[in-house]
Amino acid sequence: MDVFLVSGGGPLTGSVRVNGAKNSALKLAAAALLAPGRTVVDNVPDIADIRVMGQVLQHLGVGVHHRSGVLTLDVPEQVGDSTPADLASKLRASIVVLGPLLARCGHVRIATPGGCNLGSRAIDLHLSGLARMGAQIDYGAEHVEARARRLVGADIELPYASVGATENLLMAAVTASGTTRLGNAAREPEIVDLVAFLQSMGADIRGGGTSEIEVRGVRELRPTRHVVIGDRIEAGTFAVAAAVTGGMIDLHGVRPEHLRLALSKLQAAGAEVTERDDGLTVHGGGELKAVDVVTLPFPGVPTDLLSAFLLLSSQARGTSMLTENVYESRFSVIDEMVRLGADIHLEGHHAIVRGPARLAGAVVRATDLRAGAALVIAGLVAEGETVVTDPYHVDRGYTDFAARLSALGGDVRRADVVPSLV
Ligand code: UD1
Repeated sequence: MDVFLVSGGGPLTGSVRVNGAKNSALKLAAAALLAPGRTVVDNVPDIADIRVMGQVLQHLGVGVHHRSGVLTLDVPEQVGDSTPADLASKLRASIVVLGPLLARCGHVRIATPGGCNLGSRAIDLHLSGLARMGAQIDYGAEHVEARARRLVGADIELPYASVGATENLLMAAVTASGTTRLGNAAREPEIVDLVAFLQSMGADIRGGGTSEIEVRGVRELRPTRHVVIGDRIEAGTFAVAAAVTGGMIDLHGVRPEHLRLALSKLQAAGAEVTERDDGLTVHGGGELKAVDVVTLPFPGVPTDLLSAFLLLSSQARGTSMLTENVYESRFSVIDEMVRLGADIHLEGHHAIVRGPARLAGAVVRATDLRAGAALVIAGLVAEGETVVTDPYHVDRGYTDFAARLSALGGDVRRADVVPSLV
């Protein structure tokens, strides 16, 4: 049984090169489907989710080559128009091929997507937006099928600023006839990256990064070359690791403005943060103080950092209230943190955290990708040995997580253990 073995110890110190953003690279790979020819994406992380997306694209007829961070996609004149269930169930983000495939092929049938176990992750906003653009949709438990000879621009007001729906509708709109206006669009940095990518393919888009995006359809797009932005969630994870271990980590390859509110919470908790154009330094020497955190769509604190902030609060003096507004199941990590000795109580969508708690090693389970990363770091704070099971969740989003933490002085390794010993 594959696990992370973590021994608590001293501060994490050193320098980390932040990878390209998973949540951007996945969408850029899907957007490449919009133009036949060779598209090259640089700074693409070597993680399991990207490998699955590569398999989805291969299934659609795309030549996929990923080496040293460079993802080369050879998109044929004719792409396939269906995705298989076994791949879609491994990757919820596979839903983002819906928009580009419908735009390219006029028909798409994709298996209903899986991915992180985060409660009801509906796709109604993706589908109702595509229907507004003239698509006929057939939505079942096992598959989603959509048809449209040519999509037509429409005014679409999203009832919620969904990241995935904004991305799918953008990719559907770029070659639609006429103009699409997306109201209450998501403003995440990954959306801005996708807009820049589509613009470099010849798309006519205004307002990326604001809640009003206007897309004037063009007849066709061309392949492109693009560098993915740094991963703000990976950066935030290492930033919290510096704070809770009382260490100092230099992060390179990420823009501080992409995680400004999260950094201001770290500062309010007592960590020192120094920002540079393409990175930051987090120094966590002193005592941490309780801080309240509310997760919200960008520019709010990202829901993907909730688990890390739960850990931070457990080590801070006083009572913190952490409010989760995006995914109800993010709190599944709490039981695992409590097993390590954290004092956390749930009241509705608020977690009340009392600290500082002395953590002690235990066997805990990575309940999702971000939970897994936070539990490994919790193991570095805990006395004794912590075993984090189900490490494949962490592999979905972090490259060589154990090795990179070890390079900073942490005692973390991957091991095969006998299940009865865990
Ligand atoms: C993306 C990120 C994920 C992040 C999330 C919010 C990727 C691969 N994943 O997920 O890491 O946590 O943004 O920043 O980029 N919803 C609906 N109907 C819809 C769409 C969404 O009800 O049609 C709900 C979801 O159930 C969820 C919330 O809206 O509760 C947020 O979803 P969304 O913003 O779409 O996130 P994702 O794109 O799935």
